[in-house]
Amino acid sequence: MYEDLSPIDTAKRVAATRAVAFVENGMKVGLGTGSTAAWMVKALADKVHDKGLRIVGVATSAQTAKLATEMGLTIVSLNDAKWLDLTIDGADEFDGNLSLIKGGGGALLIEKIVATASDRMIVIADAAKEVNKLGAFPLPVEVIPFGWQTTKTLIEQVLVTLDVLGSEVTLRMSGDTPYVTDEGNHILDLHLRQITNPRQTTTVLNQIPGVVENGLFVDICDAVVIGQGDGTVEMRDISTGKVQSDKMILSDPKNAFSDLGNT
Ligand code: A5P
Repeated sequence: MYEDLSPIDTAKRVAATRAVAFVENGMKVGLGTGSTAAWMVKALADKVHDKGLRIVGVATSAQTAKLATEMGLTIVSLNDAKWLDLTIDGADEFDGNLSLIKGGGGALLIEKIVATASDRMIVIADAAKEVNKLGAFPLPVEVIPFGWQTTKTLIEQVLVTLDVLGSEVTLRMSGDTPYVTDEGNHILDLHLRQITNPRQTTTVLNQIPGVVENGLFVDICDAVVIGQGDGTVEMRDISTGKVQSDKMILSDPKNAFSDLGNT
């Protein structure tokens, strides 16, 4: 749709821009992490500058804090903000109940804290993220480094009791060394293929000592904005049951970071 943008980036950009329309003057806003959220940070910065809005953001990762600051947004800590009006974030998968898998970018812990501390969470996603059942995307679980192999064994043992199709658990790597989150933890990716009961799965996983948090978001997301490569956006609100579709005409992104797809 936009000369310089691939269909996937167009989808992410229109979803992000549509969601930013819900940000109002004076709001405290949680800023998600990932390539779709990066489009949202850019769209929000444009809106703040164009309309002279006074908003503060709470970033869900060091990566987002850096981008938002570079874009001229004011970033404060969650301790300073205390509670947020709205969080806008991406997702790796969402289902019909707006349950999510998050954490592909490794920021699930702070993302869940920030989204839970918000009156409202809007997820922005391209249409490929929608699934009938969660679980094709490996479920990230953040674990403390101490005894992580024992924690992995405990996770493998409880998976047998859960209604999931796969049981492989892998340590996320960054090159030759274990990936380290912003909080200094590791991530185990659970290849479950299908999660029949996300609520039970999140509860059981979080009871294991050594597990800090998992990437299942149940009853946290209020609405999803789904973008398409042709500029169409659909917004579904789980609390009102309302579904709205629009076609967005956006200006050419020009210098709007061509490398966002890898953020
Ligand atoms: C970051 O930890 C994740 O939860 C992201 O929100 C998720 O991986 C979506 O990222 P993309 O927008 O890059 O697909």
